[in-house]
Amino acid sequence: MTDDPNTPDFWESNYRAGPRRWELGGATPVFQRLAESGEFAPGRMIVPGAGLGDDARLFARHGFQVTAVDFAPTAAQAMRARQAPAAPIVVLQADWFNLPAVLRGVFDYVLEYVFVGAIDPARREAYADVVAGLLRPGGRFIGLLGPIGAPPGGPPFAVQPDDIIALLAARGLSLLRREWPPDSVPQRRGVEELVVMVKR
Ligand SMILES: C[S@@+](CC[C@H](N)C(=O)[O-])C[C@H]1O[C@@H](n2cnc3c(N)ncnc32)[C@H](O)[C@@H]1O
Repeated sequence: MTDDPNTPDFWESNYRAGPRRWELGGATPVFQRLAESGEFAPGRMIVPGAGLGDDARLFARHGFQVTAVDFAPTAAQAMRARQAPAAPIVVLQADWFNLPAVLRGVFDYVLEYVFVGAIDPARREAYADVVAGLLRPGGRFIGLLGPIGAPPGGPPFAVQPDDIIALLAARGLSLLRREWPPDSVPQRRGVEELVVMVKR
């Protein structure tokens, strides 16, 4: 087993080892509220490191055309097995840092949850490059960013929302709003912040 979170093997070992501490057993209530709110018109959405796909399927049920990306084979298989025929998603078993060029500039939304804190912090500039590259002008980044103030080491690696906002702002995204969600699951309340940005 590798201890390098840049590799699919690291994550695949986690999936094979049993229950994962990051899973909520369903979509986060924060995204349930957003999906139901009507604030975001259905459109093309991409979800990095989608895991078992709960958040991806949630937005698909609300009419979004969702592409869920994960490079761990077990995660990709699980998402295929859990497809809802009435609201299918596109499952892409691929590395976020090596996506097909054809996807550039076509998405209305990037939906981030528990991914940026999972990747090697040295790759955050590259992460922001990919986010900015995938969005069309006017497209939005919806990120529930955390864990804020995680202990040293990782994953998860600590995420400061201000840092992610700055990385995306440097790539042409403007902050629309940020919020401490009252409906974060209890164990993440106060350590994750909702950030919405738009690509100019
Ligand atoms: C901590 S898990 C979170 C999964 C999901 N977002 C959730 O909230 O349950 C991180 C996920 O990102 C995936 N992942 C990590 N690095 C990746 C990369 N470079 N490309 C694609 N997927 C990646 C892992 O396989 C894992 O499923």
